[in-house]
Amino acid sequence: MMLDEIRAAAPGIAAPHPIVAHSPAMRTVLSLIGRVASKQIDVLLLGESGTGKELVAKALHLSSERKQKPFVALNVAAIAQELIESELFGSEKGAYTGAHESRPGKFELAKDGTLFLDEIGEMSLEMQTKLLRVLQEREFERVGSHAPIAFTARIVAATNKDLERAVNERRFREDLFYRLNVFPVHVPPLRERHEDIPVLARTFAAEEGKALRGFALELSDAAIALLAEHPWPGNVRELKNTISRAVILTAKHTLDQEDLAPLLRERPKEHGAARASDKVTEEQPLLAPPDFMTMPLEELVMKRLQPFVAKFCEGPTGDLYKLVEAQMERALFRLVLDRTRGNQLRAAEILGLNRNTLRKKLRELGLERK
Ligand SMILES: Nc1ncnc2c1ncn2[C@@H]1O[C@H](COP(=O)(O)OP(=O)(O)OP(=O)(O)O)[C@@H](O)[C@H]1O
Ligand SMILES: [Mg+2]
Repeated sequence: MMLDEIRAAAPGIAAPHPIVAHSPAMRTVLSLIGRVASKQIDVLLLGESGTGKELVAKALHLSSERKQKPFVALNVAAIAQELIESELFGSEKGAYTGAHESRPGKFELAKDGTLFLDEIGEMSLEMQTKLLRVLQEREFERVGSHAPIAFTARIVAATNKDLERAVNERRFREDLFYRLNVFPVHVPPLRERHEDIPVLARTFAAEEGKALRGFALELSDAAIALLAEHPWPGNVRELKNTISRAVILTAKHTLDQEDLAPLLRERPKEHGAARASDKVTEEQPLLAPPDFMTMPLEELVMKRLQPFVAKFCEGPTGDLYKLVEAQMERALFRLVLDRTRGNQLRAAEILGLNRNTLRKKLRELGLERK
């Protein structure tokens, strides 16, 4: 399948990057999204971790009349309790110690656009109450101000949790649940849409190949067959991470069975809804084979760098240093940001970098959050 065909896989749905949807299950999702896009109703995306909820949310936004307006994503599980109000509503200068200037919150930034509330199953009860109030009154105030601001964004909420159970266990407000559950869309796990695996794998081998090694990699038929058999408990994200690892670990242009088999660890076949701790990125070591684990990093990097350097030394002189530096930095930042779930402040602390330096580097490397 050529990339053009892949891009054409979901006609009519605008996406930030192509949404692969060859399976009937995924086509159903896209047709639901297409139908609801132009309506003024909120949408709830349900599905296991890594199934593509955020991508679907962006596609919904881009397919709607709000597409020229902002798409603002807020991971509600990641906000510190004491920052909830100012994050959501914004704050006026002097509203609290350290508020040196007025700042809009996410509700205000999302004006007339889409507010993507991610991981709502993890929302604190305090935040649930605040959110519900805004949804009912359709207005809010910045912290330290009494001037009401109209709330005009469409809410697209997402969770990998069983919300009804959370309601029964009183961890999630029933009134908020009904308010958000107007138009639920279930994004199916990858094991229920095998038809998508080959196309996804080829797309990722091409994209990650270009990003990490400068050219698109291909997959052998045997490699595809192996991937198609795997249960993918971490869904599309796990598939994408697996391909990235293989792209880095091999020196070849075509990924074969032997490049992928060591990266596919069998895991207990419990296929229930994924827990937050199930994130593949947190569980799987970057380098599965044991010799990689014991080898010093420098040796390991040299091993991987060698064919790359050899190739460069044959060609014209150029940007080898910059290219390698950028790739190393990108890899490091991606891993750390993955661990901190995108929290740049935490990432800067872990890396021992100044926050602004990190932000600048992320921007330069094209890794900043959209
Ligand atoms: N159908 C698809 N086509 C192409 N890429 C996809 C598809 N589905 C998911 N992806 C990619 O897989 C990765 C995971 O998707 P995404 O972040 O949207 O998942 P999620 O459901 O929001 O996961 P979580 O619940 O863990 O936040 C992203 O890099 C996304 O671009
Ligand atoms: Mg997500």
